[in-house]
Amino acid sequence: MGTDLHDLLRSLRVWDVELPAFDPSAAPADPLALFTAWFAEAVAAGQVEPHTMSLATADEEGLPDVRTVMLHGADTSGWSFATHAGSAKGRQLAARPYAALGFYWPAQGRQVRVRGPVTAAPSTESQADLHARSTGALAAALTGRQSELLGSLEELARASQSAWERAQREPEAPVPSWTLYRLRPEEVEFFQGDAARRHVRLVYRRTETGWRKELLWP
Ligand SMILES: Cc1cc2nc3c(=O)[nH]c(=O)nc-3n(C[C@H](O)[C@H](O)[C@H](O)COP(=O)(O)O)c2cc1C
Repeated sequence: MGTDLHDLLRSLRVWDVELPAFDPSAAPADPLALFTAWFAEAVAAGQVEPHTMSLATADEEGLPDVRTVMLHGADTSGWSFATHAGSAKGRQLAARPYAALGFYWPAQGRQVRVRGPVTAAPSTESQADLHARSTGALAAALTGRQSELLGSLEELARASQSAWERAQREPEAPVPSWTLYRLRPEEVEFFQGDAARRHVRLVYRRTETGWRKELLWP
Protein backbone atom coordinates (compact mmCIF):
# COMPACT_ATOMS: atom_id res chain seq x y z
CA MET A 1 0.00 0.00 0.00
CA GLY A 2 1.23 3.50 -0.76
CA THR A 3 1.67 6.25 1.79
CA ASP A 4 -1.45 8.21 2.67
CA LEU A 5 -0.47 11.68 1.55
CA HIS A 6 -3.16 13.39 3.60
CA ASP A 7 -2.21 11.62 6.83
CA LEU A 8 1.38 12.56 6.20
CA LEU A 9 0.48 16.18 5.52
CA ARG A 10 -1.57 16.43 8.71
CA SER A 11 1.33 15.02 10.74
CA LEU A 12 3.70 17.80 9.71
CA ARG A 13 4.19 21.14 11.46
CA VAL A 14 5.65 24.55 10.66
CA TRP A 15 7.02 27.14 13.10
CA ASP A 16 7.82 24.29 15.46
CA VAL A 17 11.38 25.47 16.14
CA GLU A 18 12.59 28.32 18.31
CA LEU A 19 11.96 31.44 16.25
CA PRO A 20 13.75 34.78 16.54
CA ALA A 21 11.83 37.91 17.49
CA PHE A 22 11.59 40.64 14.84
CA ASP A 23 11.00 44.24 15.84
CA PRO A 24 9.95 46.07 12.67
CA SER A 25 10.28 49.47 14.38
CA ALA A 26 14.04 48.84 14.55
CA ALA A 27 14.28 47.77 10.88
CA PRO A 28 16.70 49.73 8.66
CA ALA A 29 15.43 52.33 6.18
CA ASP A 30 16.55 50.23 3.21
CA PRO A 31 15.40 46.64 2.48
CA LEU A 32 18.84 45.66 1.15
CA ALA A 33 20.34 46.17 4.62
CA LEU A 34 17.66 44.00 6.22
CA PHE A 35 18.00 41.32 3.52
CA THR A 36 21.77 41.23 4.02
CA ALA A 37 21.35 40.88 7.80
CA TRP A 38 18.68 38.16 7.49
CA PHE A 39 20.76 36.30 4.89
CA ALA A 40 23.81 36.25 7.20
CA GLU A 41 21.56 35.09 10.06
CA ALA A 42 20.13 32.29 7.88
CA VAL A 43 23.67 31.07 7.13
CA ALA A 44 24.61 31.31 10.83
CA ALA A 45 21.46 29.36 11.80
CA GLY A 46 22.54 26.51 9.52
CA GLN A 47 19.76 27.05 6.99
CA VAL A 48 20.37 24.63 4.10
CA GLU A 49 20.94 26.39 0.74
CA PRO A 50 19.71 29.84 1.78
CA HIS A 51 20.93 31.17 -1.58
CA THR A 52 18.27 29.28 -3.53
CA MET A 53 15.06 31.13 -4.34
CA SER A 54 11.85 30.75 -6.29
CA LEU A 55 11.77 32.90 -9.41
CA ALA A 56 8.28 33.67 -10.68
CA THR A 57 7.70 35.02 -14.16
CA ALA A 58 4.70 35.34 -16.47
CA ASP A 59 4.46 34.06 -20.01
CA GLU A 60 3.28 36.03 -23.04
CA GLU A 61 -0.35 35.36 -22.10
CA GLY A 62 0.26 36.56 -18.54
CA LEU A 63 0.09 33.05 -17.08
CA PRO A 64 2.42 32.46 -14.11
CA ASP A 65 5.43 30.16 -13.97
CA VAL A 66 7.92 29.45 -11.20
CA ARG A 67 11.17 27.57 -10.63
CA THR A 68 14.18 27.56 -8.31
CA VAL A 69 17.38 29.45 -9.18
CA MET A 70 20.49 30.58 -7.34
CA LEU A 71 20.91 34.09 -6.02
CA HIS A 72 24.09 35.55 -7.53
CA GLY A 73 24.10 38.83 -5.64
CA ALA A 74 22.07 41.66 -4.15
CA ASP A 75 23.23 45.26 -4.15
CA THR A 76 21.92 48.73 -4.94
CA SER A 77 21.32 47.74 -8.56
CA GLY A 78 19.13 44.80 -7.59
CA TRP A 79 18.90 41.08 -6.87
CA SER A 80 20.68 39.01 -9.56
CA PHE A 81 20.39 35.52 -10.99
CA ALA A 82 21.57 33.87 -14.19
CA THR A 83 20.15 31.56 -16.81
CA HIS A 84 19.94 30.92 -20.54
CA ALA A 85 18.18 33.66 -22.50
CA GLY A 86 16.56 30.95 -24.65
CA SER A 87 15.08 28.98 -21.73
CA ALA A 88 11.39 29.23 -20.92
CA LYS A 89 12.07 31.83 -18.22
CA GLY A 90 14.46 33.73 -20.51
CA ARG A 91 11.77 33.97 -23.18
CA GLN A 92 9.17 34.96 -20.59
CA LEU A 93 11.43 37.70 -19.28
CA ALA A 94 12.02 38.97 -22.83
CA ALA A 95 8.25 39.19 -23.35
CA ARG A 96 7.43 40.53 -19.86
CA PRO A 97 10.50 41.90 -18.08
CA TYR A 98 9.04 41.67 -14.60
CA ALA A 99 9.51 39.00 -11.91
CA ALA A 100 9.10 38.03 -8.27
CA LEU A 101 11.54 36.19 -6.01
CA GLY A 102 10.69 34.13 -2.95
CA PHE A 103 13.05 32.98 -0.22
CA TYR A 104 11.96 30.65 2.59
CA TRP A 105 14.32 30.02 5.48
CA PRO A 106 12.48 27.53 7.77
CA ALA A 107 15.35 27.36 10.29
CA GLN A 108 14.08 30.77 11.48
CA GLY A 109 10.55 30.81 10.06
CA ARG A 110 11.45 33.62 7.69
CA GLN A 111 10.24 34.46 4.23
CA VAL A 112 11.38 37.28 1.93
CA ARG A 113 9.51 38.32 -1.23
CA VAL A 114 10.93 40.67 -3.84
CA ARG A 115 9.06 42.10 -6.89
CA GLY A 116 10.13 44.38 -9.67
CA PRO A 117 11.26 44.94 -13.25
CA VAL A 118 14.10 42.83 -14.63
CA THR A 119 16.94 43.82 -16.95
CA ALA A 120 19.60 41.69 -18.65
CA ALA A 121 23.22 42.60 -17.90
CA PRO A 122 25.63 43.19 -20.81
CA SER A 123 27.17 40.01 -22.24
CA THR A 124 30.68 40.77 -20.91
CA GLU A 125 29.32 40.98 -17.37
CA SER A 126 27.24 37.80 -17.77
CA GLN A 127 30.28 35.89 -19.04
CA ALA A 128 32.49 37.22 -16.22
CA ASP A 129 29.88 36.16 -13.65
CA LEU A 130 29.77 32.66 -15.17
CA HIS A 131 33.56 32.30 -15.31
CA ALA A 132 33.87 33.27 -11.65
CA ARG A 133 31.73 30.24 -10.73
CA SER A 134 32.51 26.51 -10.49
CA THR A 135 33.55 24.16 -13.31
CA GLY A 136 30.22 22.42 -12.80
CA ALA A 137 28.33 25.68 -13.34
CA LEU A 138 30.25 26.28 -16.58
CA ALA A 139 29.69 22.68 -17.71
CA ALA A 140 25.96 23.01 -17.01
CA ALA A 141 25.80 26.28 -18.95
CA LEU A 142 27.82 24.78 -21.85
CA THR A 143 25.44 21.81 -22.03
CA GLY A 144 22.87 24.36 -23.16
CA ARG A 145 19.46 23.78 -24.82
CA GLN A 146 17.73 24.47 -21.48
CA SER A 147 13.96 23.88 -21.59
CA GLU A 148 14.11 22.23 -25.06
CA LEU A 149 12.63 18.73 -25.40
CA LEU A 150 15.19 16.01 -24.62
CA GLY A 151 15.06 12.76 -26.61
CA SER A 152 16.82 10.52 -24.09
CA LEU A 153 19.07 10.53 -21.04
CA GLU A 154 21.85 9.06 -23.20
CA GLU A 155 21.73 12.20 -25.34
CA LEU A 156 22.08 14.33 -22.20
CA ALA A 157 24.96 12.18 -20.90
CA ARG A 158 26.89 12.67 -24.16
CA ALA A 159 26.33 16.44 -24.27
CA SER A 160 27.16 16.81 -20.57
CA GLN A 161 30.35 14.75 -20.88
CA SER A 162 31.66 16.91 -23.70
CA ALA A 163 30.59 20.09 -21.83
CA TRP A 164 32.53 18.96 -18.74
CA GLU A 165 35.61 18.21 -20.84
CA ARG A 166 35.42 21.63 -22.49
CA ALA A 167 34.83 23.41 -19.15
CA GLN A 168 37.93 21.74 -17.69
CA ARG A 169 40.05 22.47 -20.78
CA GLU A 170 38.75 25.99 -21.36
CA PRO A 171 37.63 27.67 -18.10
CA GLU A 172 36.86 30.90 -20.00
CA ALA A 173 34.72 29.19 -22.67
CA PRO A 174 31.97 31.62 -23.70
CA VAL A 175 28.31 30.65 -23.43
CA PRO A 176 26.58 33.35 -25.50
CA SER A 177 23.06 32.55 -24.28
CA TRP A 178 24.04 32.65 -20.58
CA THR A 179 22.66 35.86 -19.13
CA LEU A 180 22.86 37.61 -15.79
CA TYR A 181 19.55 39.28 -14.93
CA ARG A 182 18.88 41.95 -12.32
CA LEU A 183 15.58 42.49 -10.58
CA ARG A 184 15.30 46.08 -9.35
CA PRO A 185 12.92 45.86 -6.39
CA GLU A 186 9.78 47.98 -6.23
CA GLU A 187 8.55 46.00 -3.23
CA VAL A 188 10.34 43.81 -0.66
CA GLU A 189 8.44 41.99 2.09
CA PHE A 190 9.94 40.42 5.21
CA PHE A 191 7.86 37.82 7.08
CA GLN A 192 8.85 36.57 10.50
CA GLY A 193 6.88 33.48 11.50
CA ASP A 194 5.60 33.21 15.07
CA ALA A 195 4.50 30.06 16.93
CA ALA A 196 1.25 31.78 18.06
CA ARG A 197 0.63 32.79 14.40
CA ARG A 198 1.19 36.47 15.19
CA HIS A 199 3.51 36.58 12.22
CA VAL A 200 5.17 39.93 11.59
CA ARG A 201 5.04 41.22 8.01
CA LEU A 202 6.97 44.31 7.03
CA VAL A 203 6.76 45.57 3.45
CA TYR A 204 9.06 48.16 1.89
CA ARG A 205 7.63 50.02 -1.11
CA ARG A 206 9.84 52.19 -3.29
CA THR A 207 8.91 55.89 -3.37
CA GLU A 208 10.38 58.77 -5.36
CA THR A 209 12.82 59.53 -2.58
CA GLY A 210 13.51 56.19 -0.90
CA TRP A 211 11.39 53.51 0.77
CA ARG A 212 8.10 53.52 2.67
CA LYS A 213 7.72 50.83 5.33
CA GLU A 214 4.33 49.39 6.29
CA LEU A 215 3.06 46.50 8.37
CA LEU A 216 0.66 43.95 6.89
CA TRP A 217 -1.88 41.72 8.60
CA PRO A 218 -0.61 38.15 8.55
C1 LIG B 1 18.57 24.26 -6.18
C2 LIG B 1 18.38 24.61 -7.63
C3 LIG B 1 19.11 25.65 -8.17
C4 LIG B 1 18.94 26.00 -9.52
N1 LIG B 1 19.63 27.08 -10.01
C5 LIG B 1 19.43 27.45 -11.31
C6 LIG B 1 20.06 28.64 -11.80
O1 LIG B 1 20.74 29.39 -11.09
N2 LIG B 1 19.85 28.94 -13.11
C7 LIG B 1 19.08 28.16 -13.92
O2 LIG B 1 18.97 28.49 -15.11
N3 LIG B 1 18.45 27.06 -13.46
C8 LIG B 1 18.61 26.69 -12.18
N4 LIG B 1 17.94 25.59 -11.68
C9 LIG B 1 17.05 24.83 -12.60
C10 LIG B 1 15.68 25.56 -12.68
O3 LIG B 1 14.92 25.33 -11.50
C11 LIG B 1 14.88 25.13 -13.92
O4 LIG B 1 14.70 23.73 -13.92
C12 LIG B 1 15.56 25.52 -15.22
O5 LIG B 1 16.21 26.78 -15.12
C13 LIG B 1 14.55 25.58 -16.38
O6 LIG B 1 13.52 26.49 -16.05
P1 LIG B 1 12.57 27.14 -17.18
O7 LIG B 1 12.17 25.98 -18.11
O8 LIG B 1 11.42 27.72 -16.45
O9 LIG B 1 13.38 28.17 -17.93
C14 LIG B 1 18.07 25.24 -10.34
C15 LIG B 1 17.34 24.19 -9.77
C16 LIG B 1 17.48 23.89 -8.44
C17 LIG B 1 16.63 22.77 -7.86
